[in-house]
Amino acid sequence: FYVDWDIITAEKAGFDHFMLKEIHEQPKAYRDTMGSRIDESGTKVILNEVKMTAEQVKSIQQVHIIACGTAYHAGLVGKSIIEKLARIPVETDVASEYRYRSPIITPNTLVIVVSQSGETADTLAALREAKRCGAHVVAITNVVGSSVAREADDVIVTWAGPEIAVASTKAYTSQLIAFYLFGLYLAQTLGSQDGEYIASVVTELKELPAKVEQILEQGEAFKDWAEQVASHNNLFFIGRGLDYAVALEGSLKLKEISYIHSEAYPAGELKHGTLALIEEGIPVIALATQDDLFEKTVSNIKEVKARGAYVFGLHSEGETELVKAVDQVFSIPNTLPLLSPALSVIPLQLLAYYASLARGNDVDKPRNLAKSVTVE
Ligand code: AGP
Repeated sequence: FYVDWDIITAEKAGFDHFMLKEIHEQPKAYRDTMGSRIDESGTKVILNEVKMTAEQVKSIQQVHIIACGTAYHAGLVGKSIIEKLARIPVETDVASEYRYRSPIITPNTLVIVVSQSGETADTLAALREAKRCGAHVVAITNVVGSSVAREADDVIVTWAGPEIAVASTKAYTSQLIAFYLFGLYLAQTLGSQDGEYIASVVTELKELPAKVEQILEQGEAFKDWAEQVASHNNLFFIGRGLDYAVALEGSLKLKEISYIHSEAYPAGELKHGTLALIEEGIPVIALATQDDLFEKTVSNIKEVKARGAYVFGLHSEGETELVKAVDQVFSIPNTLPLLSPALSVIPLQLLAYYASLARGNDVDKPRNLAKSVTVE
């Protein structure tokens, strides 16, 4: 598989900011990360870079996914993917916590470290601790030859290309693609899912880039949303299940480049205290893409609406109930609920981008932050 890095230049390619360019490079990043990892028939995953034998895979009793920041949020989606597809228990942790909590690591523990740069000090230290305890370590990273890539036992490279903006976008979504591929690889090796279901997921995976393009074509809609929220100093993102994992990423994107405080909350948890913060006019971004949790999410939306919140809703195309419960709604193209994070995060990236612009911030180089945190 050859990537002609020469064509991936570090210019903005006509975009106002690297971040917007990188948001628009996501369809290509998805295609390149899937690359030759889906077989000719388009129904199976091939991960030759993973050197584990079938016996080693079958001996895995638990998985730890360790990362920082946005990569950690990709790991939360990765947990759902691996538990659903491979039926192996998965723990997730931020790297700066993991190494100090005396994690229980055995030779039957598979540790997955996720790092765009492959140089994050906390993540590298967690990798070293896992190896010291005898775990097999798989790295998901965007930089070939990075420290994480060199020290892991197996490396799944995300072919997102150089990511210049401090706020990660295409690397995060390429990490999701890597997790889908790895989860399917585990399911194929373990026989935990039948071939027909695996083929249906692979088929839908290949449709994602075109669906991202559909969302990007409507990207201006989020300029309007952003201008409505830019004057606020507090915002909530709510969702259930995978929607909550994506809400966390949307909240971080908004905080780190617009400097608007926001909090992502499990929609079902609001009534246990945080509802006290909901007051007249507070913006709430509600994600409702998970069919099995839709009704309950709508009832949580009604809870915040009843207390004055202004709700922006995200749901799947064709769904007709959400519009009755929220103030504004955006439809993402239909896909399998398991794959929806690869689509539902795009509007949140754009919302953060335009909110940062509306506030006159330096989108690509937000205050106080570095692209790679190589210190503890
Ligand atoms: C992402 O928008 C942030 N800039 C930050 O959270 C980043 O994801 C984190 O520092 C981890 O970086 P890494 O993926 O290079 O390890």
